[in-house]
Amino acid sequence: LGFFTYDPGFVSTASCSSDITYMDGEKGILEYRGYPIEQLAHSSSYLETCYLLFHGELPTPEQLENFESEIDNRNMVHEALKNFYNGFRRDAHPMAIMMGVTGALSAFYHDHMDVHNKEDRETAMLRLVAKIPTIAAWSYRHAKGLPFMYADSSMSYSENFLYMMFGSPNKKYVADPVHVKAFDLILILHADHEQNASTSTVRLSGSSEANPFAAVAAGVATLWGPSHGGANEAVIRMLEDIIKSGKTLESFVDRAKDKSDRFRLMGFGHRVYKAYDPRARIIREVCHDILRDLPADSPYKEMLDTAMKLEEVALNDEYFKSRNLYPNVDFYSGVIFLAMGIPLNMFTVLFAMARTIGWISQWNEMMGDEESRIGRPRQLYTGKETREYVEMSDR
Ligand code: CMC
Repeated sequence: LGFFTYDPGFVSTASCSSDITYMDGEKGILEYRGYPIEQLAHSSSYLETCYLLFHGELPTPEQLENFESEIDNRNMVHEALKNFYNGFRRDAHPMAIMMGVTGALSAFYHDHMDVHNKEDRETAMLRLVAKIPTIAAWSYRHAKGLPFMYADSSMSYSENFLYMMFGSPNKKYVADPVHVKAFDLILILHADHEQNASTSTVRLSGSSEANPFAAVAAGVATLWGPSHGGANEAVIRMLEDIIKSGKTLESFVDRAKDKSDRFRLMGFGHRVYKAYDPRARIIREVCHDILRDLPADSPYKEMLDTAMKLEEVALNDEYFKSRNLYPNVDFYSGVIFLAMGIPLNMFTVLFAMARTIGWISQWNEMMGDEESRIGRPRQLYTGKETREYVEMSDR
């Protein structure tokens, strides 16, 4: 190969150096700026975690208060942006809408957008973190034909999102505090995950000095796939298929082991974690708590019972054990979102919302690094050797 290293899937290539997130896949460790995810999950809030990821340090009380009000001041989007929604079919996937509308922010917010200016990069971060919940909730409201709701300053970030999703202009909305807490926790757990496919995409697009909203839209596009953020939705679709088929759970597990079949158990396995995903360990407890309190007549009962049986089967199966294929964070977040009544096609949107801070923090780090250069991977050419052009009349 001469000068190049051939590494499909970037299994052993570090594309950058970074101070933001530390992962040890063998030991199942995840830290943001040196703080263990378990401690952040227990004690932090999503907005505090956003501050930490972007600025590198936990905020003082005053810094947090300022940050929260900066976000609060920016949670509206330009009214003209609403017209974009009208252009989408009602049955459009909300991730398709997210991709389009997030990218379209670059057409509305191009003032203060010098990517080499630190303050401008911070403004981009504030705008994105503030507006993404509004954009996400509206993609759902559009599908339902419901009026768009505006954030309410008296509510927390997570509560506001649920309010914009499920609130109504003519009725007071009170979110279930257990759901608000679980939701904020899920946002913390998904906030960053070093150089995964979508983050690497944001870095690569940003490396050409593209507008940050455009770079983040590229991240949304990458996250959508079922091998990445789309897995939480794919988990539920798989559970639906299992129930509809009337076949045993074991037969699906057997299918996942069969190499002649591309079918995999969605929500199991991870490229880096070869021990239990630490995020899954945290979220698993919340998941089990929520399921314990689920009303007996919940429409999701059968599906959620199936999920818990699947977890048990896979955790005890030799094939999965020997390959370290544990349930990952998306297995549990999918189940929790379902139990919370979040529509299935919104699951990946929520992942995108949470990951926005990770994407923009990584982008900010790269743009602030004097040594960063445009990303330009090479290839191993496997095509034809040089040959002569053949005139049409001779073919
Ligand atoms: N079901 C059945 N077998 C599996 C699964 C699965 N979910 N995942 C991996 N394997 C097998 C795979 O067939 C291979 O077996 P063998 O060694 O006998 O050939 C072995 O486990 C290693 O798999 P791999 O394909 O080399 O692993 P990878 O690192 O390329 O893929 C993954 C990681 C997450 C894409 C994969 O595990 C997968 O497709 N999982 C299901 C989708 C999913 O849940 N994705 C969410 C990931 S976590 C959130 C995120 O980062 O976005």
